Amino acid sequence: MNGPAEPFKIKVVEPVNLPSEQRRKEAIREAGYNTFLLLSDDVYIDLLTDSGTAAMSDNQWAGMMLGDEAYAGSKNFYHLDQAIKDVLGYNYTVPTHQGRGAEHLMYSYLVKPGQIVPRNMYFTTSKVHVELPGGKMVDTIIDEAHDPESTHPFKGNVDFKKLQGFIDTYGADKIAFVNVEMDVNMAGGQPVSMENLRKLREFCDDYKLKIIFDATRSSENAYFIREREKGYESTPIIEILREMMSYSDGCIYSSKKDCLVNIGGFLATHDKEIFEATRSMVVVYEGLHTYGGMAGRDMEAVARGLREGAQYEYLKYRINQVRYLGELLIKVGVPIVRPIGGHAVFLNALKFLPHLPRDQWPAQTLAGAIYEDSAVRTMERGAISKGRDSETGENIFPKLELVRLTIPRRVYTNTHMEYTAESVINLYGKRNEINGLKMVYEPKYLRFFQARFEKLE
Ligand code: F0G
Repeated sequence: MNGPAEPFKIKVVEPVNLPSEQRRKEAIREAGYNTFLLLSDDVYIDLLTDSGTAAMSDNQWAGMMLGDEAYAGSKNFYHLDQAIKDVLGYNYTVPTHQGRGAEHLMYSYLVKPGQIVPRNMYFTTSKVHVELPGGKMVDTIIDEAHDPESTHPFKGNVDFKKLQGFIDTYGADKIAFVNVEMDVNMAGGQPVSMENLRKLREFCDDYKLKIIFDATRSSENAYFIREREKGYESTPIIEILREMMSYSDGCIYSSKKDCLVNIGGFLATHDKEIFEATRSMVVVYEGLHTYGGMAGRDMEAVARGLREGAQYEYLKYRINQVRYLGELLIKVGVPIVRPIGGHAVFLNALKFLPHLPRDQWPAQTLAGAIYEDSAVRTMERGAISKGRDSETGENIFPKLELVRLTIPRRVYTNTHMEYTAESVINLYGKRNEINGLKMVYEPKYLRFFQARFEKLE
């Protein structure tokens, strides 16, 4: 048996349908071979993202009925503020409609034109929000993170030599802040160790640099610290989280992941200046500082979900379900990113489809092929997501060309995982018959959301 059984039982279900083979072929062609452009009705198992796709608990739904929809001073905001104090240890919170709203406020305040933001691998929306105010994001993650086969237990770690290199090249005053993502999404859901965060704080103190976390998947990162880092074997997840956050000046946070809700975000900080500056901007872009684009009921669901999502038994079930899918694939030799990450299993498209050149978009191709085979929707995480170099305009081909099978929280059963694995294994058996794609439409920003492709014969 794999791991513990689910620490919940199912109270409400939503029917799903498996479209016919003919409809699947039509649907993906109509969507320009971009899984973001598929209609949800055409999808059987939706592994596009773990963002906003969780099943809420009865406790969260009960909280939704207690929404205080006052324009100002909603009591749900104060519940959220208190949950963030209790679970993450930050004194000051600014609510936003979702994570990128928080990135916008935090990064446009901290980044001046020409400045550099070192980060342990980029994330799509984060990179854009650093570039819009005139900054540039540079990579400080350890080399192992770029190697899908390395089994380093903390592939999200910051490489201090790389960070030092950027300080030597640009000067500390050109560094807007140091950005650290928890459970690094684009690296395959790979955690950062507590030791690395502790050392980073000392390092940055020497240069008087601020540290801002992307704490979006920090609870899942905390689970890995408890599982893998000496001294934390029996530490409560909340204590681990509070220690992690103590090494930062503040964070941005998309609540749509670890908080088990459909919408929401915030930034939180220990720093009164950051708080006051971003609180004055939130009213321009998001809404009053006691709702920031969320309804009162949504803030209540986030407040409850933040506490629920930091429970050890829940996290153990969650991480083990992702691992279950990954191990089904490893068993038969399908190339995936190791170790299996926190929120998703990532297929290594360069190894899966080695006959395709990079400009025929192997990961985009594979995501389309999986949909066609089984109506399982996955997502490209490679060169299309990475985009173009902001200075030269050329395509960037990152070492990682991946397809993400992202597992929504508390939504699918292990039978759904088995169905998914069967489809991927089936395709792996006939991988030589899969043809590449040609990009025929490319939007200016975050092209992976709306780009369109045609199949090459
Ligand atoms: N930071 C990280 C690490 C994320 O994964 C995301 C979103 C964001 C910030 C932005 O948050 O969507 O609430 O505005 N990731 C989603 C994904 C979209 O599918 O990985 P948001």
